[in-house]
Amino acid sequence: MKTFKIASIPGDGIGKEVVPAANKVLKTIADIHGGIQFNFTDFPWSCEHYLEHGEMMPEDALERLQNFDSIFLGAVGNLKLVPDHISLWGMLIKIRREFEQVINIRPAKVLKGIRSPLLNPKDFDLIVVRENSEGEYSSVGGNIYKGEDEIAIQNAIFSRKATERAMRFAFELASKRKKHVTSATKSNGIYYSMPFWDSVFEDVSKDYSEIQTDSQHIDALAAFFVTRPHQFDVIVASNLFGDILTDLGAGIMGSVGVAPAANINVNGKYPSMFEPVHGSAPDIVGKGIANPIGQIWTAKMMLDHFGEEELGSVLLDVVESVTNDSILTPDVGGNYTTEEVTNEIIKRLKIVEKQGV
Ligand code: NAD
Ligand code: IPM
Ligand code: MN
Repeated sequence: MKTFKIASIPGDGIGKEVVPAANKVLKTIADIHGGIQFNFTDFPWSCEHYLEHGEMMPEDALERLQNFDSIFLGAVGNLKLVPDHISLWGMLIKIRREFEQVINIRPAKVLKGIRSPLLNPKDFDLIVVRENSEGEYSSVGGNIYKGEDEIAIQNAIFSRKATERAMRFAFELASKRKKHVTSATKSNGIYYSMPFWDSVFEDVSKDYSEIQTDSQHIDALAAFFVTRPHQFDVIVASNLFGDILTDLGAGIMGSVGVAPAANINVNGKYPSMFEPVHGSAPDIVGKGIANPIGQIWTAKMMLDHFGEEELGSVLLDVVESVTNDSILTPDVGGNYTTEEVTNEIIKRLKIVEKQGV
């Protein structure tokens, strides 16, 4: 029996609705498989925790998380209780940084039965590899002067190591897919970092002669995501460009509620963290209508990470059979609840088991 220890952190808002839903699905998968089990440990770290204890997570949080096989997180952020930069830097970004989760993998593809807002979406199937440790999200900078002369300085950091690492990851991924990598740049307007980004891309691409490449400015690329997303395979982007591009990827799938993500620790020193693209969705919290598919597809990425790719693809097939039968939450045009969609996925997983797949 293989046992995977999972630190489950629902966090805030709909994280508390979709993480338990996805955990139920994972438990069903384990029952079906027979040879694996998931040991979940729940951590109540959130903005409410902050109000009570003055911190998003306890001081020894990282030590406690260190020994898990992975972290399964919902969302962080409740502006009514805590400013975002405090809550996010106190938990989500802290974990990404301290656990060297330097790559964020974010797929977007047409899901059967979910209508893309695009008139003619064709069958796009792309993956954004987002540099997840530096770039525009740096803690280098500061505020100087006061009053009307005040200036906020935010430095973007682009190291050769991290830039090259993200690019190599993208090329390796593309070599197992359609063998095309697009670089998201902005070297026409951003003077230092982006010409550097381009030159690293050119250097790395020399090691992958079988992979086709192109380079697009992020503004044009955003438009191409709308006009011809089917022409992309793997896109490598800086931290902020990747962030924006992946909500766009989610948008063309039909809803940010279906978009999955994985924060990967590539050196094996720390656990990776699986957390969907969306946030805590304060506008729908408590209504029971959050789309659980982003979190469940994220669970599939965690299964892949554990080497259980076959189970992962069974899970995504079952999710698509449910969406294909229009059992959908309101964000994608249905009127089913989080629980109903989740239970339908669980029911069909059990049918797949009976059929011996
Ligand atoms: P959001 O993703 O929470 O919400 C954007 C829109 O998408 C909302 O209309 C919301 O209802 C909808 N939506 C999101 N997830 C959905 C789901 N599963 N099902 C149905 N609809 C869904 O983004 P936001 O409003 O910019 O941020 C809200 C809070 O979440 C903020 O505090 C923000 O900082 C935080 N946030 C956290 C994460 C994270 O923890 N990974 C990611 C993004 C935003
Ligand atoms: C995401 C989120 C985070 C990010 C925020 C909440 C800090 O938008 O995971 O996409 O920008 O990385
Ligand atoms: Mn984002």
